[in-house]
Amino acid sequence: MRHLITSALPYINGIKHLGNLVGSMLPADVYARFLRQEGEEVLYICGTDEHGTPAEIAALEEGLDVAEFCTRQYERQAEVYRKFGLSFDYFGRTSSAEHRELTQDFFRSLDEHGFIEEREISQVYSVADERFLPDRYVEGTCPNCGYDRARGDQCENCTKMLNPTDLINPRSAVSGSTDVEVRTSRHLFLRLDKLSGEVREWVDQQTDWPNLTRSIANKWLDEGLQSRGITRDLKWGVPVPKECFEDKVFYVWFDAPIGYVSATKSWGDKVGKDWKSWWYNADDVRYTQFMAKDNLPFHTIMWPATILGTREPWKMADYIKGFNWLNYYGGKFSTSSKRGVFLDQALEIAPPDYWRYMLMASAPESADSAFTWEQFQTKINKELADNFGNFINRILKFTASRFGNELPAGGEPGEAEIELERRCMELVEGLRSHLQSMEFRKATETLNALWSAGNQYIDVRAPWTLFKQDKNEAAVVIRTCINLIRLYAITAAPFIPTTVEQLFNALQLTDDERQSSMTAAADLTILAAGRPFEVPPVLIQKIDDDRVAELKAQYGGD
Ligand code: 2FM
Ligand code: ZN
Repeated sequence: MRHLITSALPYINGIKHLGNLVGSMLPADVYARFLRQEGEEVLYICGTDEHGTPAEIAALEEGLDVAEFCTRQYERQAEVYRKFGLSFDYFGRTSSAEHRELTQDFFRSLDEHGFIEEREISQVYSVADERFLPDRYVEGTCPNCGYDRARGDQCENCTKMLNPTDLINPRSAVSGSTDVEVRTSRHLFLRLDKLSGEVREWVDQQTDWPNLTRSIANKWLDEGLQSRGITRDLKWGVPVPKECFEDKVFYVWFDAPIGYVSATKSWGDKVGKDWKSWWYNADDVRYTQFMAKDNLPFHTIMWPATILGTREPWKMADYIKGFNWLNYYGGKFSTSSKRGVFLDQALEIAPPDYWRYMLMASAPESADSAFTWEQFQTKINKELADNFGNFINRILKFTASRFGNELPAGGEPGEAEIELERRCMELVEGLRSHLQSMEFRKATETLNALWSAGNQYIDVRAPWTLFKQDKNEAAVVIRTCINLIRLYAITAAPFIPTTVEQLFNALQLTDDERQSSMTAAADLTILAAGRPFEVPPVLIQKIDDDRVAELKAQYGGD
């Protein structure tokens, strides 16, 4: 099996926050890195989701042409993800030519097979803005509670669901103009009602899906699927290739998931590889999708329905890993209200590996979880710095000062070493199994157990005291510890790749040795006496209380 992995395509309208990272891209990256390490063939695809009204409005606010806006934002996002060490094989864009063609192809197939219908709908039109307004871009007074900034889809004050025509004194949220009216226009709808049975059959076949994914899919199916509008009266988007609809574009959620396919095509065209075998009749591919729970309905229902309706053998997901919310002090991270920590800010606060580790250790897998600065501090100081970094720095420094910069010779592994190795083997198999089943919290707990095993070993074997009594015994302990450091590096590589790179360099490992599988690395005698090494600088810096207070003051947190 080859492994295709995708993360939900981040929306283009700004730098994402920690909640977005932990809910899709980071776990996908850890999984992709793990599988590559296991020797699997992996293709990890992501990209920006660039269409839709929010992009147009954001461009307007910045006084930029929307295409120009998207290019700038694409570059900013790609740069941030690169800094976080996300190992995409390709990071595409839904504004590409490949994407436009594929989206139009998907539509034509759906149309040919009778899954598209025309309907006339009424929509609010803003004369001043010269555009139709999506429901949430119409504002006015709530007929229910009198709140004067209710949106056309819902009043955020009393939570009542609304239609834009329910609002008293409606106005455009784009310009504030009250010169708005209801106009009718013809649109295309995807017949989800006709595809519902097939989607359910497919969902029922997915017996290994996680609960969250299955329950959301079933909830939607049980409520009954209705035709869904897939076109919009906008200029920015994929043009609709059908007579009388040429001035319309596809709704962003129709084309977004096709972005997985089109980004793969862009990748194939760029590197000269066969992209289509990953997507079309791809029975030898295992496809895993990562996303936050708000995206689950689109990926378990709408996107599969689109594929099924083409009557073509496009690859459907084998496994969909959904995440709950990472909250910021109880409330939501929010791009629009600038609440929480954004990825560019995060990089100024701490190195990417600190975030990668911390986020995976608090991944919202079985329930929502909360981000707090105190927890960030604890995870970094107690686990990453004390348990992991300190062990490594202490052992390598001690060895260099007593034995020089080579693994010392002498002695033979005894019972304690055999027992440690047995324990490591067991933990490594546990770690692999958690990663195979994408249980990231458990995986970081196992990493910690591995680090604790090393600390317990040196507490008992105390090489510093042993050195004074029996140099050969001390040498055995040191060799074992340095092999353990190598195991730490290999096992932590999917989580903290930059730090691990530093460690690989310190241990002067060959390329082959760096690519070792976790299982092979659990042998604690591989690095033999005489191997040179260097002492790396302090790997993990602690975060002190003053800094935490400063961050809380700066970012808000209570
Ligand atoms: O929720 C979001 O940010 C969407 N842009 C996700 C799209 S996923 C896929 F369909 F492209
Ligand atoms: Zn209200």
